[in-house]
Amino acid sequence: MTGRTLEGRTALITGAGRGLGKAMAEGLAARGAKIALVDLERDVLAAAAADVETAGGQGCALVLPADVTDTQRAAEVVEETISSFGSLDILINDAAMGPQFFTEDFTGDGPRFWEVDNDLWLRVLTVNAFGPQLMASAVVPHMVDQGWGRIINVTTSLDTMFLPGCGAYGPSKASLEANTHIMANDLGGTGVTANVLIPGGPANTRMITEATGIPREDLIQPEVMQAPSVWLCTDEANDTSGMRFIAALWDENQPLAKRLEQAGAPTAWAQIPSKAIRPDSVASLDR
Ligand SMILES: NC(=O)c1ccc[n+]([C@@H]2O[C@H](COP(=O)([O-])OP(=O)(O)OC[C@H]3O[C@@H](n4cnc5c(N)ncnc54)[C@H](O)[C@@H]3O)[C@@H](O)[C@H]2O)c1
Repeated sequence: MTGRTLEGRTALITGAGRGLGKAMAEGLAARGAKIALVDLERDVLAAAAADVETAGGQGCALVLPADVTDTQRAAEVVEETISSFGSLDILINDAAMGPQFFTEDFTGDGPRFWEVDNDLWLRVLTVNAFGPQLMASAVVPHMVDQGWGRIINVTTSLDTMFLPGCGAYGPSKASLEANTHIMANDLGGTGVTANVLIPGGPANTRMITEATGIPREDLIQPEVMQAPSVWLCTDEANDTSGMRFIAALWDENQPLAKRLEQAGAPTAWAQIPSKAIRPDSVASLDR
């Protein structure tokens, strides 16, 4: 995909200071989007913003230091984005605390669940699951009013969600995966979509430490997130919601239908035929 297909759009990307978030920021900026970069540290964000402006042009990046679990700050970054760029069309919830907060080489040797520090478990759940919920709640009223919007939640591979030794990392991502399904359902008919995008395996960011022993070149490179995240933000994806996409399987050389089939599936576990047995009186809980 080439050209400034996202001209006139504004994206707020959390975790944009480094790693996959920064790669997506550069990818969207190169297609003409304005980018509000959210992360914890101002100096990390300033360095990332310089690279985003190299990709997208002078003035396309806004630095917004914020903790995604801070309710007041969430409202402020939304306001600051809209007052600086005039709109807010896309939210990418990428910020997260990774498995490395529990184990250096997450090959199963990390702590058993009862050995994990309770405060750390709760903090990771809060950042990875509540953070996206908070940010999405802050942007959605604006998106619904304008009748167009995108929420892209970065979760993880389904089997990473129960990888041993990683504390709350997997459970927090399972929560966000399920919440994306709820978001897509609640947003039906509004013009706002909610989807999941994941790299598809261990990616070359600080989340995968040197201690894993995996050669960096064998890891999925962050740039794979660019093409599918750009596509999800185009009008071509207006009817795509409640889906999860594996970036490493997204092949720009394939026709769109083949790309979607190869890299896409419904969010969460909708495709698994395992539904609760409900009395007839409450047979349908879908809105
Ligand atoms: N790297 C992988 O192998 C991999 C695989 C699957 C999914 N993911 C997911 O991809 C996303 C990006 O991860 P990454 O690999 O680029 O890791 P990363 O650590 O390089 O980036 C995560 C960013 O989130 C920021 N962050 C953490 N807590 C925050 C908070 N409270 N408020 C604001 N920002 C905060 C960090 O400062 C960091 O810049 C995460 O959601 C991660 O779970 C990564």
